[in-house]
Amino acid sequence: MLLTKDILDEKNPILRKKSKEVSFPLSEEDKQNIDKMVEYLRNSQIDEIAAKYSLRPGMGMSAVQIGVLKRYITIVHETEEGNFNTYIVINPKIVSESKEKIYVEDGEGCLSINRETIGIVPRCARVTVEGYDINGKKITIRAREELAIVFQHEIDHLNGILFVDKIDPKNPFKYKDTYRAI
Ligand code: CO
Repeated sequence: MLLTKDILDEKNPILRKKSKEVSFPLSEEDKQNIDKMVEYLRNSQIDEIAAKYSLRPGMGMSAVQIGVLKRYITIVHETEEGNFNTYIVINPKIVSESKEKIYVEDGEGCLSINRETIGIVPRCARVTVEGYDINGKKITIRAREELAIVFQHEIDHLNGILFVDKIDPKNPFKYKDTYRAI
């Protein structure tokens, strides 16, 4: 199973590379990677398991974060206590986005960023994501609010972008009153 130490830190230059499109059928290795990523995210959000294995909680992970430069992402979103929705998207692409912008009031986080950060990361309040499921079937996901932010964050990873890049270093709270906090 994946542990927190297996996730690459921002100091690793691999995280700055652009991931490559994936073709189907998926390799066994990619299927196993996906299973491990989903397992980590789910376990990390279940307190007892997270404590047992010292897992840092996370909602999303892209393949590059385990050193695989391929375009797939996994998200495990807890909709209510103990109820998780899992999203696995291969070659994800944002095909439309809202004009309205939001940000995480407490600041965004990332399993690859292991330091305190401050500032606002502007994100679209709603996005439509197209991509493929593990069988190569085309899928469309409409995401809003927190889930929309996670999709944007994970797709950024595939392009070598980290959330800290989106914070204005001169004025980290520039959009505090312009955009909506969630
Ligand atoms: Co991240």
